[in-house]
Amino acid sequence: MKVRRFPSDSLATVYVAAVVEELMSRDPHPVLGLATGSTPVNLYRQLVDFHRQGLSFSHVTTVNLDEYVGLPADHPQSYRQFMFDHLFSQIDIPLANTHMPNGMTLDLEAECDRYDAILETHPIDLQILGIGRNGHIGFNEPDISLKTRTHVIELTEDTIRANARFFDDASQVPTRAITMGIQSILQAKEIVLMAFGRDKAEAVKRSLSGEVSTDVPASFLQMHPNVTFVLDEEAAGHLEGGGAVGLPHWPLSSGANGRP
Ligand code: F6R
Repeated sequence: MKVRRFPSDSLATVYVAAVVEELMSRDPHPVLGLATGSTPVNLYRQLVDFHRQGLSFSHVTTVNLDEYVGLPADHPQSYRQFMFDHLFSQIDIPLANTHMPNGMTLDLEAECDRYDAILETHPIDLQILGIGRNGHIGFNEPDISLKTRTHVIELTEDTIRANARFFDDASQVPTRAITMGIQSILQAKEIVLMAFGRDKAEAVKRSLSGEVSTDVPASFLQMHPNVTFVLDEEAAGHLEGGGAVGLPHWPLSSGANGRP
């Protein structure tokens, strides 16, 4: 895995936006795997800026990692609404090309199958990830075993508490979500995990240098040949030699994507 560390989250975000633009310019039909949450908000803002400067998304397909169960698509905190507000409504992507799990369906099992079929017909070229403080990716929460494909998950107390900041109070946070599974994430050709802030430092350290373990779902990324962790100094703060501002970027080992 490669680690790119930046003095600030804004510089890190510009780097990731450039990775996205580079894929979009070389691939006639790129498939982007997208995340929600606070981490990618500035990435989407940057991509909207690129669009205003002439970058077209008309040839792009997106698949999102997850969606809450039980929130209507137009609920202000649904991930569909989040993606619409932060990205889709501000670029020229056809909405028909934007895929999310439907958390409102009565038959959640059929919905998981439907989403897996979408992932099969739209293999992900570049998956953008955030990371939970407990090491979750998508909503693959720490557990005694992890599911490979799209599934319904009970969110942990820690995740519900962390996400309560977006709701009026914690009792309104849905307790279940539909999420892509670990194997679907690992099938992406390239993965960029973004992590900012000291809250993420321990999860980042355990993912990069701990054992591959279902206790830290992001540690499974160690099994992928083309992953880059894009960190600010705080999120890198628990890595060996971490914390100091202004250190050069630190590749832990060479990645396979050919970027320096
Ligand atoms: C959201 C998702 C989650 C978040 C993670 C970090 O689609 O997949 O794994 O990336 O919970 O959330 P933030 O960025 O809000 O700290």
